[in-house]
Amino acid sequence: MAGGFAIDGKVGGGRREFKGKITWYVWMCGIVAATSGLMFGYDVGISGGVTAMDDFLVRFFPAVYARKHRARENNYCKFDDQRLQLFTSSLYLAALLASFVASRLCTRLGRRRTMQLASAFFLAGTGLCAGAANLAMLIVGRICLGVGVGFGNQAAPLFLSEIAPAHIRGALNILFQLDVTIGILIANVVNYFTSEIHPAGWRYSLGGAGVPAAVLFLGSLAITETPTSLIERGRRDAGRATLERIRGTADVDDEYEEIRHACETAAALCAEEPPFRRLRRRESRPPLVIAVAMQVFQQFTGINAIMFYAPVLFQTMGFKSNASLLSAVVTGGVNVISTLVSVVLVDKFGRRLLLLQACAQMLVAQTAVGGIMWAHVKVSGNPSEKWAVVIVVLICVYVSSFAWSWGPMGWLIPSETFPLETRTAGFAFAVSSNMLFTFLIAQAFLSMMCTLRASIFFFFAAWIVAMAAFVFWLLPETKGVPIDDMVATVWRRHWFWRRFFHDDADRRRIDNC
Ligand code: BGC
Repeated sequence: MAGGFAIDGKVGGGRREFKGKITWYVWMCGIVAATSGLMFGYDVGISGGVTAMDDFLVRFFPAVYARKHRARENNYCKFDDQRLQLFTSSLYLAALLASFVASRLCTRLGRRRTMQLASAFFLAGTGLCAGAANLAMLIVGRICLGVGVGFGNQAAPLFLSEIAPAHIRGALNILFQLDVTIGILIANVVNYFTSEIHPAGWRYSLGGAGVPAAVLFLGSLAITETPTSLIERGRRDAGRATLERIRGTADVDDEYEEIRHACETAAALCAEEPPFRRLRRRESRPPLVIAVAMQVFQQFTGINAIMFYAPVLFQTMGFKSNASLLSAVVTGGVNVISTLVSVVLVDKFGRRLLLLQACAQMLVAQTAVGGIMWAHVKVSGNPSEKWAVVIVVLICVYVSSFAWSWGPMGWLIPSETFPLETRTAGFAFAVSSNMLFTFLIAQAFLSMMCTLRASIFFFFAAWIVAMAAFVFWLLPETKGVPIDDMVATVWRRHWFWRRFFHDDADRRRIDNC
């Protein structure tokens, strides 16, 4: 993959070219850091299957087990149980809080060390969950896993965006999301097989989370810290040496200067005002609004209704338990393959085009699923498997479009649009918004399905219309722009967001340099 490249970036009004190669080392570091996504994805994918396993329900949620097997139970309400949903969602609440701690750790200890801590928490959580003797142990385990996810999701996307050369930043960053999808798929496959193991299948499912965590821990010993983080913490020589190594050339003066300049500006601004307070400033609003909105919208695509509860959903539609798990494997496979599409296209066609195209595709698929369920999945009686198959196909259409758009872009865009002085703090808001809304969907979906029935899909479809409008008017394109050049090249030139940057704000940035 080595080969020369030049990145065009207009810096301070002039044109600047960064020299370097796309080295194997940069890919290796990226692949290791992305393992953080594997932990997250494994977790997203495992809960739904585990909560559909009878052995697990009998042990921890006997009331849900009894309801599920009551022949006359309302199809849409079989699994509606707040405590069962808490099993899935508790992790995200912990991750939400952890992401703010992680922001500080990323700045003080660096991105790599934060990922190491993430894997340590994840390993502890795995042990507790797999060995759980009661519900309390299970929930404490989920909380440790949540801390791991909060730390990992904060550190890994930032790490990837910072080591990447600008023109392949999208592709490299999407390795994180690719691993999320691989994690979900592996979890679905694991559930498929462990559901046949009685009575401890669920323990193997939950224990499997230890594998990606161990891989991340060991891998992180072999990778570098990002040049930005080293220089930011005063280790300039190490930062420069790392930059030379990941770019495969000693000719990195321009890029080094840009990073050093960004670090000095950030240090001066942070000395004046801490990053979290700085986020309240007017000029911080554009990246902050975009970061939070990307995550909120990502969750309101309804993706986690599918990712967490696909087996449950497919059982609602009339599939037997095993067919449900198999269908979840199919949607998981579509998710992985479609994410690869994004790796290839994101730096060619840009972020906006992929997002807009996906909105159209998701809208059609969601509306069709809602319509079919409304017409054919009645409150009682067994729905026909024929329609269940059609719904699985439509869900694949929906998942594929999410996978090349809102899935990866939810992480990519917030990690690349903040200036360095607010990057880790701002990204913490992105991660925590993601976790908050993941929590809400995880906690509420089964109850919403019980109340809204098929209309739940129309609810998500309405959100998709709103997010298309948001992308069309408010989301700037960030393809190929050097990460430390977003303010000048992106925000100050956007028709709407530029009003948030007054000359004063600019002068203060420049004076501080
Ligand atoms: C989202 C997760 C989701 C996953 C599905 C991620 O980007 O943050 O909530 O489960 O994509 O692939």
